[in-house]
Amino acid sequence: MKLANRTILVTGGTSGIGLAFAQRFLQMGNTVIVTGRSLQRIEEAVAGSPGLIGLAADVSDPDSVAKLAETLRADYPTLDIVFNNAGIMHEYDLFDERITAGQLAAEINTNLTGTVYVTQALLPLLAARPEAMIVNVSSLLASVSVANAPTYSATKAGVHMFSDALREQMRESGAWSATSCA
Ligand SMILES: NC(=O)c1ccc[n+]([C@@H]2O[C@H](COP(=O)([O-])OP(=O)(O)OC[C@H]3O[C@@H](n4cnc5c(N)ncnc54)[C@H](OP(=O)(O)O)[C@@H]3O)[C@@H](O)[C@H]2O)c1
Repeated sequence: MKLANRTILVTGGTSGIGLAFAQRFLQMGNTVIVTGRSLQRIEEAVAGSPGLIGLAADVSDPDSVAKLAETLRADYPTLDIVFNNAGIMHEYDLFDERITAGQLAAEINTNLTGTVYVTQALLPLLAARPEAMIVNVSSLLASVSVANAPTYSATKAGVHMFSDALREQMRESGAWSATSCA
C-alpha cells in the first residue's frame, strides 16, 4: 500500500485518532485534508500542524457533504484516500426517559449514515484515481457489546457490514481491485 504523495481526506480529523492519523500522513509526505464541524477546532488543528488543510463539513448533513465533494472535486482532484473517521459515542441508559430522539439519532447519523454519505459522494472522484482507497473506522464495540453504548455498537457493526458490501460492489464493478477497512 503506497502511503506517500497521496491526497488524503480524514473526516473528523480535528481531534483524537483522526488528527493523529492526519499528522502522521503529513509527515509521510501526503497532502492531507481534515474536516469537522467546529471552525475553532479546524483552526487549532491547522495552526498546530503546518501544511494541514482544514475544511468545515458535517458528515451527517447530506447538503454539507455534497458541498464538501464539490470543493474537493474543484480544489483537490487528486484525492485518492478517504479515511471515514468522524464519529461520536454517547453513553446512556435506554431506561432513562430523559434521552431524546435527537440524542439517539445523532450517533447513527454521524457514525453510520455519515460514512455512507461521504463514501457515495466521493466515489466518482476516487474511481478516477489509480490505487484509490477508502478506510472506514469501526470499533471493537462492533462485535463486543457493552451495556452503556447500545446505539454506538449498532452503528459500528453497521459500518463493518457497509464496508464489506462496498468491497463486493467494487469487486463486481471492477472499479478497484481492493479496498480496506479498519
Ligand atoms: N477513542 C477510542 O477509544 C475509539 C475506539 C474505537 C473506535 N473509535 C472511533 O474512532 C473515531 C475517532 O474517535 P476519537 O475518539 O478520536 O473521537 P474525537 O476525539 O471525539 O474526535 C471526533 C472527531 O469527529 C468530528 N465529528 C464529530 N461529529 C461530526 C460530524 N457530524 N461531522 C463531521 N465531523 C464530526 C469531531 O469534530 P467536530 O465535533 O468539530 O465536528 C472530531 O474531529 C470515531 O469514529 C470513533 O468511533 C474510537
